[in-house]
Amino acid sequence: MNAHDFVEEHRREFLDQLLELLRIPSVSTKEEHREDVARAAQWVADHLREIGLENVRLFEKPGAHPIVYGEWLKAGDDKPTVLIYGHYDVQPPDPLDEWETPPFEPDVRDDKIFARGASDDKGQMFANIKAVQAMLESEGGPPANIKMILEGEEETSSEYIEEFVSDEKNHPLLAADAILVSDGSIPATDKPALCYGLRGIVYMELEVFGPEHDLHSGGYGGIVHNPAQALCEIIAALHDDKGRVTVPGFYDKVRPITDREREILAESGLDEDEWRRRTGAPQPWGEEGYSLIERVTARPTLEVNGLVSGFIEEGAKTVLPAKALAKISCRLVPDQDPHEIAELVERYVNELTPPTVRTQMRVLHYGYPAIVDLESQAAKAAAKAYELGFGKPPIFIREGGSIPIVATFQRELKAPVLLMGYGLPDDRLHAPNEKFDIENFYKGIHTTIYFFETFAG
Ligand code: BES
Ligand code: ZN
Repeated sequence: MNAHDFVEEHRREFLDQLLELLRIPSVSTKEEHREDVARAAQWVADHLREIGLENVRLFEKPGAHPIVYGEWLKAGDDKPTVLIYGHYDVQPPDPLDEWETPPFEPDVRDDKIFARGASDDKGQMFANIKAVQAMLESEGGPPANIKMILEGEEETSSEYIEEFVSDEKNHPLLAADAILVSDGSIPATDKPALCYGLRGIVYMELEVFGPEHDLHSGGYGGIVHNPAQALCEIIAALHDDKGRVTVPGFYDKVRPITDREREILAESGLDEDEWRRRTGAPQPWGEEGYSLIERVTARPTLEVNGLVSGFIEEGAKTVLPAKALAKISCRLVPDQDPHEIAELVERYVNELTPPTVRTQMRVLHYGYPAIVDLESQAAKAAAKAYELGFGKPPIFIREGGSIPIVATFQRELKAPVLLMGYGLPDDRLHAPNEKFDIENFYKGIHTTIYFFETFAG
């Protein structure tokens, strides 16, 4: 039987297996889920063994979530090797009461799977696992050698896998002719896309300290600079009225968008109606002089992710808080360096800090931006695979999100990376009611098989 027929004959079984994986709440950002993350790693490793991968093992380090590895190298030395990356960890499901069905009790309705991780990334990762299985079951076996590396820390920073991939000792294990990453999206099921860029990130906490302890806002309001207010003043000064980040040097290393690229990005365009449908917000916002799609993929940003200060429970409490905290992250584009940007932001925040309060910055994690080569043999095979799997040649897109390990793969393994996403823009990643279209799941499986067939052929 050929691999594609095998997929068609096992549709229901593949779906049921994915639902089983989605039931494990492998939230990597929460200590209370450490056991669940370990259980998901074990489940995935067992599954890789069951489908016939060899040398399947967990790499572990105290305090880190396991890396799952497996391989099948019997296609022969004359055949290429493809390394497949994915992540089995997920974001927290909060806010829980906005889910129509519980996040870890996957629900199939309207031809979609609703669950945390359905699209990001268990569903897409599993599409690749099923493609591998179908090739292993096919007559003649896989046309290329296969390696899989699946991590459990993508949603927190990929710290362990960064260290693992950067360690030269592991390079022979990971050596490949192409690296396949399915952890993104295409504009629509009838509009497939090959992604050629991801933004980087630096995630920081900015804390403002004022009085030694909370104070009565009647007794002290007016004579003590309120840290919550000071924090807002600092944050407000980080953008100008043209939507630009004011941090000196912030844009120095940003690669300008070429005219050719403007055309390419316009094809994946995000018009205002679509923007409204996806966000529900009253009006677009952002950096003057750039289209919506350019702003969200090819331009860097500075974003407030959270604010904590003072009294946030029900009712009123007249307090002047002792401190305030903001979670702030910057999305970065080539050739910005997350470490440099963190320093620039910290320096500017220090400048902006009035003598009435004290500020402190901490960096939680760094991730480099990445651009991948669309001219490689592997990229051409990927484009062909989309055409065969989704029935149309792909357009080329950049994504605004980050997958920190991609730049590390490029730097350390020097192999072309293929960003072949199978999700959709309305999958509600990181939000309540995350979903994955079942059609995309199966088309993704076929597309990955087509990629192997085209690349090895
Ligand atoms: N799958 C996403 C990245 C992504 C999102 C790619 C949308 C393409 C489109 C990934 O799992 C993710 O969310 N990454 C984090 C990384 C961070 C925690 C270092 C992100 O982008 O916030
Ligand atoms: Zn992801």
